[in-house]
Amino acid sequence: MSKLSSSQRTISGVKDYYFGGAGSQETLRKNIRAFEKITMVPRVLNHLEAPDLSVEVFGKRAPLPIFIAPMAYLSLLELEGEAIFARRAAKSGVSFVLSTRSALPLEEVASIFHANLPTTQASAPRPLLLLQVYVMKDRAITYSLMNRAVENGFDGFVLTVDSPVIGLRRGDRSNHFEVPLKWQNANFIQELSTSAKVFTPSDFGRGVSGTNYEALVQDPTFSWDDLGEFSSMAGGLPFAMKGVLDPRDVARALTHCDDVILSNHGGRQLDGSITAIQALYRISKGGTKFQGNLIVDGGVDSGADVLRSLGLGGASVMVGRYFARGIFGGGDAGLNQRERNRFPYGRGQATYSHNTLKCSNEPF
Ligand code: FNR
Repeated sequence: MSKLSSSQRTISGVKDYYFGGAGSQETLRKNIRAFEKITMVPRVLNHLEAPDLSVEVFGKRAPLPIFIAPMAYLSLLELEGEAIFARRAAKSGVSFVLSTRSALPLEEVASIFHANLPTTQASAPRPLLLLQVYVMKDRAITYSLMNRAVENGFDGFVLTVDSPVIGLRRGDRSNHFEVPLKWQNANFIQELSTSAKVFTPSDFGRGVSGTNYEALVQDPTFSWDDLGEFSSMAGGLPFAMKGVLDPRDVARALTHCDDVILSNHGGRQLDGSITAIQALYRISKGGTKFQGNLIVDGGVDSGADVLRSLGLGGASVMVGRYFARGIFGGGDAGLNQRERNRFPYGRGQATYSHNTLKCSNEPF
């Protein structure tokens, strides 16, 4: 049997970590296929000189209905991955959600993002910068991170609620995949050093794998009753709940926040769960009108998928691995090319404004 060098092992581990899913990866596969089942019926002759693709989300106007989904440790894909994503997002008008599990402290990411925003009038739409939050067992660590985000000009928070425990990712297990320690701790080293909690730096020095590490610190007891406390820690900024799929939960979530992200965590959590676009379809067919924005996350692979989501009543989409694939091996140029290839808004190629589209078949 040939032996892999440690660097090869790391690379293959990264591929599985990034592009794999939970269980037998059924949901991962379905996330992409679900979109193909939705056909669009375009309306014509709408005098579309300059389609307006801006959207109102998180209480602000963003230029495009596209967010880069929060993905942990982007630096695994390419050195300084967080910096590359932040720069490219700000320049291209795509909003960026930084993961709690960032390999670069949020202050640095914020400064790169803000420095690369185009200079426009204050009232013009601009891409948003959001911090994704996992509520950790030591909530003081979480709230301290949020406070730092408020101080550094973030526009709001994405509270991920579908990961009280981490999905069963077989690839990571068999690869003994580990995130380098310096990246695991990068975003909250100062909180850890002042935390009264049981976690000490030595907890992170025992070779705990990245995924076990997350399970160790995410608080599985966080519940609906805790949302008031969470909201009060948001410093007046809006937040969205990510990972909600059942219409009853959507309705309840929207009593706490204005935006809900329909998501199965990119097929990385409960294998076999419904896809986001399917959930949106059911909600739109059900006829319930929610007072808030529904954002579609998972399997978005093209501008056409964005239009499908908007056609079914979604306000925006989040895109994860499609962009991750661009930067992996291709760096900034690869990311840029991906954005240009398949998300051609605003460059004269968008033929239809989303206002003119309706999705009208029975896909599921
Ligand atoms: C994620 N996702 C994720 N979500 C989150 O709320 N916090 C996180 O830290 C992470 N980390 C993470 C790492 C990796 C490697 C992936 C691929 C995904 C889930 C992510 O935000 C999003 O829900 C999915 O990636 C969307 O599916 P697609 O676009 O990748 O198909």
